[in-house]
Amino acid sequence: MKLFLDTANLEAIKKYASWGLVDGVTTNPSLIAKEGVPLEKRIKEICKVVKGAVSTEVLSTDVEGMLKEARVFKKWAKNIYVKLPMTPEGLQATQILSKEEIRINITLVFSAAQALLAAKAGAAFVSPFIGRLDDIGHDGMQLIEEIVQIYRNYDFKTEILVASIRLPRQVTEAAMVGADICTVPPDIYDKLVRHPLTDAGIKKFLEDAKKAK
Ligand code: G3P
Repeated sequence: MKLFLDTANLEAIKKYASWGLVDGVTTNPSLIAKEGVPLEKRIKEICKVVKGAVSTEVLSTDVEGMLKEARVFKKWAKNIYVKLPMTPEGLQATQILSKEEIRINITLVFSAAQALLAAKAGAAFVSPFIGRLDDIGHDGMQLIEEIVQIYRNYDFKTEILVASIRLPRQVTEAAMVGADICTVPPDIYDKLVRHPLTDAGIKKFLEDAKKAK
């Protein structure tokens, strides 16, 4: 399973990328707004640090506007993936842009039916937001299981990118059910690596080694 960072914070991206296990980055308009930096500047900076897929999202809601934005994004870097919303317009734009070899990440997906349509439209990635489903009392991980099953049934090539992750455990569960990618905020990335028993174990080994000298 690939692991992406869900942030537009360049320092965090540099930090975790230096560990060598960041396969890509996802951003959205809210994450970009938090950074207070122009979109183009920040996306180009991210693409220099991370060679894997970097997703950037359109603001247009009409097909023509989406096409225009996507074609501009595509010129920014080789590893750009364009996020389009899960709407009729987004699905239409996906079909057109996929034929131009612009890779599309369909975002704001909350049902298996939406994921089926995204795959049929030719999206490279589909992004179900599991945390936002859990927030309203639904079962986000069950949605991932359903999408995995559907894509396997029909051998769709669209990769399932699990988004809106709130807990490290969700990354393990996504891997267990066969998701292709998880995108995690920096604090969750940190929690995936660290464990108090690992820290206690290192401390004890070092103390014992000192005693042995
Ligand atoms: O990048 C999309 C998604 O991961 C957003 O997550 O926490 O705003 O629901 P969240």
